[in-house]
Amino acid sequence: MRLHINVDHVATLRNARGTSYPDPIEAARMCLDAGASGITAHLREDRRHIRDDDINKLRILMQNTTFNLEMAATDEMVDIACHVRPDVVTLVPERRQERTTEGGLEVAKASSVLLAHIETLRAHKIKVSLFIAADAAQVEASRALGVEQIELHTGDYAHAFGSAAANGVEKELARIASVAKLGRALGLDIAAGHGLTTQNVPALLAIPEIVELNIGHAVISDAVFVGIEGAVRAMLAAIAKGGADRQSANRR
Ligand code: PXP
Repeated sequence: MRLHINVDHVATLRNARGTSYPDPIEAARMCLDAGASGITAHLREDRRHIRDDDINKLRILMQNTTFNLEMAATDEMVDIACHVRPDVVTLVPERRQERTTEGGLEVAKASSVLLAHIETLRAHKIKVSLFIAADAAQVEASRALGVEQIELHTGDYAHAFGSAAANGVEKELARIASVAKLGRALGLDIAAGHGLTTQNVPALLAIPEIVELNIGHAVISDAVFVGIEGAVRAMLAAIAKGGADRQSANRR
């Protein structure tokens, strides 16, 4: 399981006061030292957290580790990506008013513009991942667009985990599991992310097709109390616990 830490909210804190600290690049370095396998950052069109300069510096920091740039599928962002050359671009839907990426990309009704952006990125040897809802039609459409990876939106699962409604968690897990299986059968790498915490991550490990997690807000929040290295280690421990639970379930 690859754990990529999203450092956007280190930049949120920095930008809240217009200071030069805390530095998301230093945070990324510490996450990698603590065992993260890569770093994710979202360059939003309004630059509300990560900025262009951060992206350039993250690329320099990560010569040997995976740099996943999340961005909207726009001409401006594709130009930046082709220049910076992250290892992976995750295309996400973006609305200015939203607090965070609220839904998945609409791939099933994708326009030729989306396909052209994907082809440009791939021509620059950048792996493309699409952030989509756990929905079979979106997975099939992603495959048809020729991308290597999909990232399944786990927001509904995280929401169900935090609510008292009966069966919500099982229902969401089953939905993600069946879509992950379909995606894998179509040859796609399967990532997952959004709203994941040390509490809700272990159960997700029951889905063997998921090979990558992108986690930001919960890790940066935990870092307030235990430091960023401690927060990454706690997430790695939660992932290890999920893996151990899966092995013992398989033995039964
Ligand atoms: N993956 C994608 C594609 C996202 O857009 C986000 C939020 O920026 C995340 C993962 C991380 O979500 P969270 O901050 O809730 O862990």
